[in-house]
Amino acid sequence: MLLEVQDLHVFYGKIEAIKGISFNVNEGEIVSLIGANGAGKTTTLRTISGVRPVAQGRVLFEGIDITNMASHDRVKLGICQAPEGRGIFPGMTVLENLEMGKFHRKNRKAEMQEDLEKVYFLFPRLKERVSQAGGTLSGGEQQMLAIGRALMTRPKVLLLDEPSMGLAPQMIANIFRIITEINKAGVTILLVEQNAQQALQRAHRAYVLETGTITKEAKAKIFGVDYSEMDKDELKAELTELEKEYWGLNDN
Ligand SMILES: Nc1ncnc2c1ncn2[C@@H]1O[C@H](COP(=O)(O)OP(=O)(O)OP(=O)(O)O)[C@@H](O)[C@H]1O
Ligand SMILES: [Mg+2]
Repeated sequence: MLLEVQDLHVFYGKIEAIKGISFNVNEGEIVSLIGANGAGKTTTLRTISGVRPVAQGRVLFEGIDITNMASHDRVKLGICQAPEGRGIFPGMTVLENLEMGKFHRKNRKAEMQEDLEKVYFLFPRLKERVSQAGGTLSGGEQQMLAIGRALMTRPKVLLLDEPSMGLAPQMIANIFRIITEINKAGVTILLVEQNAQQALQRAHRAYVLETGTITKEAKAKIFGVDYSEMDKDELKAELTELEKEYWGLNDN
């Protein structure tokens, strides 16, 4: 098991945002964590990447207890998050942003060109814009840059926080296609999404998070269904049911 979250509790002041969740991510998987606004998705990712402290419970990575490990040490182990709202450096060029993803790597010079080429292969759009300031990229391009920068750290597990947020449908499809490609290249992915349809189509497994709790019913239901074997219409029907059942996603 690559990543294991055990009975995790996280607070903001007195408010318990995560109320004892447990889940795991196996090597090579895309696992989705889906849920509505305020469910605790971002908090969960931030806790895994070491930005939020844990009140109770444990986080294990490759069997090692990383619950209290500093964030930059987790990056060295191979855990990297592309933050919600993209979090790129707006005043830096595309190239400089990508180079920032390498700052903690020992042999960064040797790896730099090779990894840049990989990122440009996935995102040709970024190659065309290497000298453009990050802040002047379109929303979708900024998302590509955030994912590209995270890939520069050579992560074993990539934590993605709502990569589809604010993007047009075609761009969403494009980003998810690339996420699948990244996964096929050997990177395990924990994907946080409100866009359940895309997230479930792409994921091997999914957990539903509702106000700080993983809801068992949904988990069982999702686990019970092999989406990869369904044809498009079956899948659509199943997902529409799920969406109706858990939240009014179509209103978002
Ligand atoms: N810095 C903070 N201080 C206080 N409360 C916070 C803070 N950040 C998040 N929360 C609260 O914790 C809960 C979970 O928030 P979180 O950002 O993890 O949700 P989310 O699932 O990512 O939602 P969204 O889909 O809107 O991004 C919410 O009730 C939120 O108001
Ligand atoms: Mg969030």
